[in-house]
Amino acid sequence: MSIQTQKIVKKVTLSTLAKMKGKEPITMVTAYDALFAQLFDGEVEMILVGDSLNMSFFGKEDTLSATMDQMIYHTQAVCNGAKLACVVFDMPFGSYTTPEVALENATRVYRETCAQMVKVEGGKEKADVVRILSDNGIAVIAHIGLMPQHVRSEGGYKVRGKDEEDIKALIEDALELQAAGAAMVLVEGVKAEAARRITEALDVPTIGIGAGKATDGQVLVWSDMFGFFEAFTPKFVKKYCNGAKEVREGLEQYIDEVKSRTFPGEEHTY
Ligand code: KIV
Repeated sequence: MSIQTQKIVKKVTLSTLAKMKGKEPITMVTAYDALFAQLFDGEVEMILVGDSLNMSFFGKEDTLSATMDQMIYHTQAVCNGAKLACVVFDMPFGSYTTPEVALENATRVYRETCAQMVKVEGGKEKADVVRILSDNGIAVIAHIGLMPQHVRSEGGYKVRGKDEEDIKALIEDALELQAAGAAMVLVEGVKAEAARRITEALDVPTIGIGAGKATDGQVLVWSDMFGFFEAFTPKFVKKYCNGAKEVREGLEQYIDEVKSRTFPGEEHTY
């Protein structure tokens, strides 16, 4: 049975998202440019300009070398395409090392882009960062669980919430971040049971990625979900279309037609 999704016709605000908790699942995808932002706008509630762009767009091994300038540029591009979705700016590695640094960089995000929220990775140790931003009118989504910006220090991507002690630590992180003013919590790479308990413990909505179905919403990276990233497919990714294959087939046809002089045809000729 397919569910008829409704088009979004009004700008998605933080209060719209808060009201969705426990009622209607929130949809979020990443985008890095105006073209895809325009395709997704009016369909999903949220668009994340993730620092994953450093990997899927820029071709690096991890997200760590993404810069503020790079993220601002891509967020401006997304803002040119997205008029209704809530746009989220992913604070890159090193841009929120202290509350003061975070405030300076996040202020720049609000000044130079249309982003409504900024995302920071970290547990309760980042509560001061979340507090200074929210106290200064900058909405924050806190990212807990598997944190891609910790890939080098932790020696890989490790699923969290595998035992009671870690589940309790994650819930404590989430509660402290909420108390510091986080408007939402993104939970990545945790066991489904842990994500469910975090979601139940919080008043603010949770968004999950690799965190099971109990979170208040889901996010996927567009190049993964549309089959453009072929190197490997993480367990939590579902491919909704086979983008790379279709592009390759289209490209082959174009090359054949140019080589055989069947393109351009009469209908493409002035
Ligand atoms: O950078 C990103 O795309 C992210 C998602 C994986 C949540 O942080």
